[in-house]
Amino acid sequence: MNLDPCELSPSYVRSLAPYQPGKPISELAREMGLKEASIVKLASNENPRGVGPRTRAAMERALGEVARYPDGNGHELKVALSRRYGVDMAQVVLGNGSNDVLELVALAFLGPGRSAVYSQHAFAVYPLATQARGARGIAVPAKDFGHDLEAMARAVDDETYVVWVANPNNPTGTLAAADALEAFVRRVPERVIVVIDEAYNEYLPADLRADTVKWLKRHPNLVVTRTFSKAYGLAGLRVGYALAQPGVADVMNRVRQPFNVNSIALAAAAAALEDMEFVAQSYAANLQGLRQLREGATQLGLAFIPSYGNFLTVRVGKAQDIYKRLLKRGVIVRPVGGGYGLPEHLRVTVGTQAENERFLSALAASLKD
Ligand SMILES: Cc1ncc(COP(=O)(O)O)c(C=O)c1O
Repeated sequence: MNLDPCELSPSYVRSLAPYQPGKPISELAREMGLKEASIVKLASNENPRGVGPRTRAAMERALGEVARYPDGNGHELKVALSRRYGVDMAQVVLGNGSNDVLELVALAFLGPGRSAVYSQHAFAVYPLATQARGARGIAVPAKDFGHDLEAMARAVDDETYVVWVANPNNPTGTLAAADALEAFVRRVPERVIVVIDEAYNEYLPADLRADTVKWLKRHPNLVVTRTFSKAYGLAGLRVGYALAQPGVADVMNRVRQPFNVNSIALAAAAAALEDMEFVAQSYAANLQGLRQLREGATQLGLAFIPSYGNFLTVRVGKAQDIYKRLLKRGVIVRPVGGGYGLPEHLRVTVGTQAENERFLSALAASLKD
């Protein structure tokens, strides 16, 4: 008998369509024979301001200890987070990026015979994490590119254990208003875990931020996730977290790898959390950059989805063609056709002023090719 070992994997794993990350700079340089320094990457919603000096110093100090395993409990970072957000340390779950924390939710609460609800055009990891556990995904049609919370509440069925909400959402940049969101959390049965993924929370003006951490007291089924990858500028280190009631945090911690966050990331995140100035500057720079991209798109006669994140999703028509023309000009953005169902749009991350200019002029040229 000729056994294909691949067949030993459950069919729901074999049929997974892997996550498509933004094209790395080094890959484009190899493919096009370009110099890496000449390439602009605006494809993964990273922070163009890099790492703050205090955070860098903390990383350098941590380098001396890399021969040792990290603190598997992440004590220092948990203390800092619990102080900042007024929660108990037992309410914090640390992850290798917030992506890891989302996987922990799926691992702890999903499996065959269960379902999870998410929105059309929502972050790609929700359907992936759901399917990888053998659970059934329920994709709810979007409303004005954003989450249709009414329809999502109605879509919850007897098998639903998790509802995923990205706020703001990636790749659309849409935001659900705080009152509508809490009404939604109230409406979803308590036996269903509601994940509110706030990866872009720090890019919101204070008056638009939902008080989700306070809601944890009233809603034992709520999980709030955040990351150090965006406004804190630590995407390459991989560190994120979830806040939840202690019981929920406890089950998530049970399925966590013992040392899922590395020691440099732990030290950097604790330092970055205290560097409020860096985050405030990143917020201000992002507002300016978003304005620059919006104005540039408008001048080119292009529509875009109003964004509350550090990116703008622009309707360019034949997006795959424009994407390739931009690559030839050394500019990497993110197509959002395939996995995201937006074949006429491209998502561009807010870069530095010069990077945004470079993108806009490359886009103008690519539209004419
Ligand atoms: C909505 C959303 N959630 C979570 C993540 C995961 O980010 P990380 O794993 O770097 O924390 C991203 C990354 O782009 C995102 O857009």
